[in-house]
Amino acid sequence: MKVEARDIRHTEAAADLVAVGLSEDGALPEGPAAAIGADAAVGGFKKLSPAFDDEQRLVIVGLGKREDLDAERLRVAAALVAKEAAKLKARSLAWVLPESDDDAAAAAAIVTGTILASYRFDRFKKAPEEPPVALQALTLLGPELLAGEVEAARVCAEAANRARDLQSTPANSMRPEDLAARAEAIAAGSDALSVEVFGPAELTAKRMGGLLAVSQGGPAEPRLIVLRYSGGAGPTLGLVGKGVTFDTGGISLKPGAGMHEMKYDMSGAAAVLEAVAAIAELGLAIDLLAVVPSTENMPSGSAIKPGDVITQYNGTTVEVNNTDAEGRLILADALAYAVELGADRVVDIATLTGAVVIALGSTYAAVVANDDQLAADLAAAGARSGELTWRLPLHAEYKELMKGTVADLSNLGKQRKAGTITAASFLEEFVDHTPWAHVDIAGTAWDVGREYTGKDASGFGVRLLVELARELSG
Ligand code: BES
Ligand code: ZN
Ligand code: ZN
Repeated sequence: MKVEARDIRHTEAAADLVAVGLSEDGALPEGPAAAIGADAAVGGFKKLSPAFDDEQRLVIVGLGKREDLDAERLRVAAALVAKEAAKLKARSLAWVLPESDDDAAAAAAIVTGTILASYRFDRFKKAPEEPPVALQALTLLGPELLAGEVEAARVCAEAANRARDLQSTPANSMRPEDLAARAEAIAAGSDALSVEVFGPAELTAKRMGGLLAVSQGGPAEPRLIVLRYSGGAGPTLGLVGKGVTFDTGGISLKPGAGMHEMKYDMSGAAAVLEAVAAIAELGLAIDLLAVVPSTENMPSGSAIKPGDVITQYNGTTVEVNNTDAEGRLILADALAYAVELGADRVVDIATLTGAVVIALGSTYAAVVANDDQLAADLAAAGARSGELTWRLPLHAEYKELMKGTVADLSNLGKQRKAGTITAASFLEEFVDHTPWAHVDIAGTAWDVGREYTGKDASGFGVRLLVELARELSG
């Protein structure tokens, strides 16, 4: 979508639809206030009222009480307007920037809400006889110095939509090699990016025992993707994303109902790859090292079995007591590898545990970290992007639950206690005291249900990670 900021009146914008916000305890701006129907408009949050100004069609969107107006409300309001624009078959939309404490954040929120709400996944549908009319241009009617902020929001939201494409693509079209191909395409887009992709032979030579063990159940070859971005400023931020392109559970098979959703078990990988693409597009001054382990998790005669002992990349041995706890096995190798390659701090992001869905639902992602600063940076990035994070604790007693009987560690916590934390405690064993934060997005990657995300792939993590990189680079 084309987006711009222009300091002109709504009548000059020549847009198919003009959106104007109205607070419950506020008034419309002078121009739109004179439109036919404007006097009947209501300011209750999420209420839409039509109005006309000569030939110009307006939609007045209620923003609720002025004191409650924040970026999240504007993302939601923008999403409602985008849906109205789709109904009216508008190709161009102009938004009068509402009054707020922070023009830049308000403008960014409107761009984000509009682009995310306009997303469709129709790659596998027959082409309709008449091509659908889609919104192609958004003009923010406000100070032109907001151009940079508006453009950054566009880049991030479009990256999030690309991550949603990766998440939504069924597993028979999204194999580890397809994720690797996407990484290669991203790397081809900028001189500051480079990529390496390792297959079974190299992984065997490197002794990536976790990734190899999970992949041995199926015919699809695993891949380890290493994507580097050199923005010219250290320290290096490591990003690790879980790329299980389908999780059946393996021999510890998952129940059939809902299993199709496990195509999105590569949402962490999608977030990392598209966040790196966005960071490179924005040219942020930060060095990144992204490591994405990718595999299917399948049951078969060659699959890992409960009780098997494997050796991870860093030499730690692990008893695989449940083959459905596969994510931590592949992340363990990737984290150790990222640290060895020189990441000075690491964030991993993964659809890791069902327990986080119970604990936090689809509203917050869980963060578990060995570093207060990194956890605080993620919380701040979450508050700004609306991709919220909530920190859970580490403790020696959780670590105790992950000790193995015949090996150093077990991949399954004892007594099913604190599933999200014990999974993270397991991962901590592989970061060698490097500042690290783990983000569990099993609840937020799908079915968030906000007006701008809908009920399927959310792209969660792209905007969070880009916001974190902006913070660390600034
Ligand atoms: N991919 C799942 C976690 C998941 C659950 C993602 C729901 C999205 C929605 C993960 O690999 C898994 O199966 N974890 C197990 C771990 C358990 C066996 C210790 C779980 O959470 O049940
Ligand atoms: Zn699993
Ligand atoms: Zn999984």
